[in-house]
Amino acid sequence: MIRDMTSSRINPVEKGAGLMFGASLVVLSSVTAMAQMTPVQLRCEYLVNPLGLDVRQPRLSWVLQASGRAQVQTAYRILVADSRDALAKDDGNLWDSGKVDSDETIHIAYDGKPLTSGQTVFWKTRVWDKAGAESPWSEPASWQMGLLEPDDWTAKWIGKSDTPPNGPLPSLPPAMLRKDFNVAKPVARATAFVTALGLYELRLNGQKVGQALLTPEWTDYATRVQVQAYDVTPMLKEGDNAVGALLADGWYAGRIGISVILGAGGQVRGFYGRWPHLRMQMQIEYADGSRETVITDESWQSTTDGPIRKACILDGEVYDAQKEQPGWDGPGFKAEGWKSAHIEPSFPVKLVAQRHDPIRVTQELKAVAVTEPAKGIYVFDFGQNIAGACRLKIQGKAGLKVRLRHAEVLQPDGNIYRDNLRIHGELGARQEDEYTCRGEAEETWVPRFTYHGFRYVEVAGLPAKPAPELLTGLAFHSAPPMTSGFESSSALLNKLMLNTVWTLRDNLHSIPTDCPQRDERMGWTGDILAFGQTACFQMDMAAFLAKWLQDLRDDQARDGRFPDFAPHPFDPDKRFSGVPAWGDAGVFVPWYLWVSYGDKRVLDEHYDAARRWVDWIHSNNPDLLWKNNRNNDYGDWLNGDTLKLTGFGFPEGKAQMSPEVVGTAFFRQSALLVSKMAGILGRTEDAARYGKLAADIKSAFNRAYVKEDGTIENLDPPKDPNQKPVLHGNTQSDYALALDLDLLPPEKRPLAANLMVKAIENYKWHISTGFHTTVRLMKELTKAGRNDVAYRLINNRTIPSWGYEIDHGATTIWERWDGWVEGRGFQDPGMNSFNHYAIGAVAEWMLRVIIGINPDEDSPAYKRFTLRPMPGGGLTWARGHYDSIRGRIACDWRMEGDTLHVVVTIPPNTSATVCIPARDRTAVQEIPQAGTQSMQGVTFKGMQDGAAAFEVGSGTYHFTSAGYKIPG
Ligand code: BGC
Repeated sequence: MIRDMTSSRINPVEKGAGLMFGASLVVLSSVTAMAQMTPVQLRCEYLVNPLGLDVRQPRLSWVLQASGRAQVQTAYRILVADSRDALAKDDGNLWDSGKVDSDETIHIAYDGKPLTSGQTVFWKTRVWDKAGAESPWSEPASWQMGLLEPDDWTAKWIGKSDTPPNGPLPSLPPAMLRKDFNVAKPVARATAFVTALGLYELRLNGQKVGQALLTPEWTDYATRVQVQAYDVTPMLKEGDNAVGALLADGWYAGRIGISVILGAGGQVRGFYGRWPHLRMQMQIEYADGSRETVITDESWQSTTDGPIRKACILDGEVYDAQKEQPGWDGPGFKAEGWKSAHIEPSFPVKLVAQRHDPIRVTQELKAVAVTEPAKGIYVFDFGQNIAGACRLKIQGKAGLKVRLRHAEVLQPDGNIYRDNLRIHGELGARQEDEYTCRGEAEETWVPRFTYHGFRYVEVAGLPAKPAPELLTGLAFHSAPPMTSGFESSSALLNKLMLNTVWTLRDNLHSIPTDCPQRDERMGWTGDILAFGQTACFQMDMAAFLAKWLQDLRDDQARDGRFPDFAPHPFDPDKRFSGVPAWGDAGVFVPWYLWVSYGDKRVLDEHYDAARRWVDWIHSNNPDLLWKNNRNNDYGDWLNGDTLKLTGFGFPEGKAQMSPEVVGTAFFRQSALLVSKMAGILGRTEDAARYGKLAADIKSAFNRAYVKEDGTIENLDPPKDPNQKPVLHGNTQSDYALALDLDLLPPEKRPLAANLMVKAIENYKWHISTGFHTTVRLMKELTKAGRNDVAYRLINNRTIPSWGYEIDHGATTIWERWDGWVEGRGFQDPGMNSFNHYAIGAVAEWMLRVIIGINPDEDSPAYKRFTLRPMPGGGLTWARGHYDSIRGRIACDWRMEGDTLHVVVTIPPNTSATVCIPARDRTAVQEIPQAGTQSMQGVTFKGMQDGAAAFEVGSGTYHFTSAGYKIPG
């Protein structure tokens, strides 16, 4: 049903990649045939052959392929040349690094001649292995610089020919803009640099330029806007050409989520500006070496009398094909009734290169069912909750209007459920597209300037029952490569993993969002804090999150508060800033990038902002308990006490942590991470100062909240001063958070772990945690030797559990454990999304514990790591992988009789501690691989909690553990 167009370095999860017993042996044998270590997958600033970079010293990375064991790189040489030919002749005329003795394969900064605006360069590398043997040169790769200086831009900002009306801004049609130009000579290369305050689609000679959608994406437009660079060489022709653009309001001038909650004084659109504008500069290099530019300027014409009548991110798009102007984006069009475009002399906004993968269609879905719940109303079911839109293919009479309304779930009568879209008058997210037919043969249409969160589409207006082919679901999102795979003997766990992956995809639209359907879709900081490590396992998030950290810095309040969401269009100095476990994302997220990708540049760029956040908390809370200024204070959001499960026999008031305990725990962790960052960056004084602060907060935490017997609780002041203080504590969440953030002295850890298990038992062996404690609970159960309980929770099928969601049709992770309950129905429609990733962070536990992949923060970017699969929960096999920045790490285990087989793969130039579950050392053997001897390069380090720990270098190892019984 699903056509996969994910161009990833690996297969996406649902294809069941990993396959140690199958595919990876194929990889192994093809690698064995190669004589030497080879550099492959060359990337520049995390991207493959990027265009339009504005980093003057871009960083280069590669992955190594090698046969044999314990292979390491001992040296590398990089050549960078100004032409493909020069590079082919090994002439690094821009940079020849020479042979550098180093095992580094990532983030090697270009250090050659200064690069100029628009320059394209070509590069390759070769490496030396542990025996000193030289590899062949890699395949060539390239990058292109963007327009580096403000003066490089001669293009002007152009917009609609009329001016915005006074007063509240109504929804108005997007603009069409166009210009003819001539290409006199053969073209060697042409690049279009494009941006907009608004959303644009660039068109050249009748075709869309590039595949990217919703460009230039969302940033803090008051500060910066992204520029996309497109290679348009093949789209130009000698002679007459035409360039056109569609220009819509988008996030800049259109509606944005939660404006109503913020009581924006009745304002519903135009939060950054009232009128969208476009800026485009096409640089043409002719074959004879001469150059020319085509720019947006006074010569462009504009109209709003085109087919797109309305376009809104939240509400959808209205398209009247009868108003199409055929040929408008091709040469020689008579632009009758068009006027000169408006020129805006300047905007106080910085132009920056887009530094991450664009939003694009990754999958096409066919309808799995079409029903007719009411006469003439057809409901298409795509079988999967996605973010995107539909392609409509229709043959209808001229003027026939077809309405598509999108929803995540159905009502009991089979009609779509829209209450959770919060539509009230002009507010909410209508998620509704409308198409009016031209009335010719088959017509095809896809909306351009909106996206919806949906599994179901209701179609109205058709004269007869449609074929399922009427609609194709298009899933689109920011699309970094997928980097993990998971499969096991449990259909439930496989589905759970798949649901978490879809939820991540559905919430990447140039920023990490909370949800893709209702009128929010904001970059809520707490959500990505909770899900960040999972995201870094599942996709290559480095470039995307580095971009978002810039958004976060742009909207940091003057006093150091990080915003509750970024971008923050509603004045972060005034409101929606400075909340525990939300603002802390400004410290946690760069740390995730450090651990997974070893990105020191991000740490360096972000350090000061992170430090200011901690200073702000500290200055408001000199006694080191975060009592003051917790602002919107969301606490451990959506924990068990927020469920509406009366009659299910759960104790009430036993799930909610004290918000002060949440705050103090995060304050301490942020101080600790700032101290670690300072150490990495060589700021030794800061490292000591924040390290001491972290230690002092930990002591204060224990004094204030932790009793002798390990109980954690706090008497919180009442919200209403006339009420009594409220005792919160002794919840699953308290112990999960305190253990996971290492807040307790060693002797209290077992006490707390026991109390944590007791709290689970008291909750009928179900989970009662919220956003910030769910995966922490799972990880701490494992650490405490209670994997039996962790597996029990993940295998639960009664509410609240992931299994309950899945058994009731979930294809993505629900915002609330009780989004829908049998016999009760939906939760409060004011906040009930079926596509929120936070509690899906359990996928992190699945990859760490079931597959066993664990990064080591002291050896970032998986230079060293631990592989420790921990079978349990009735599983008989599991396999998975993670494509680290240094190559694929994989683990595949299965029971055969009473023998456990574990096959692991360690990438070249890395090493790992591999822990094989075993009764003792003598039970573990290694089946030799081609070209190696058993246990070659494998060093036993001792037994650790029921597993034999071995140190290994790169290679594939097939261990067996005889007489093993998987714990129940
Ligand atoms: C969002 C959350 C967010 C929260 C703040 C909600 O409306 O959807 O995911 O983190 O507000 O508590």
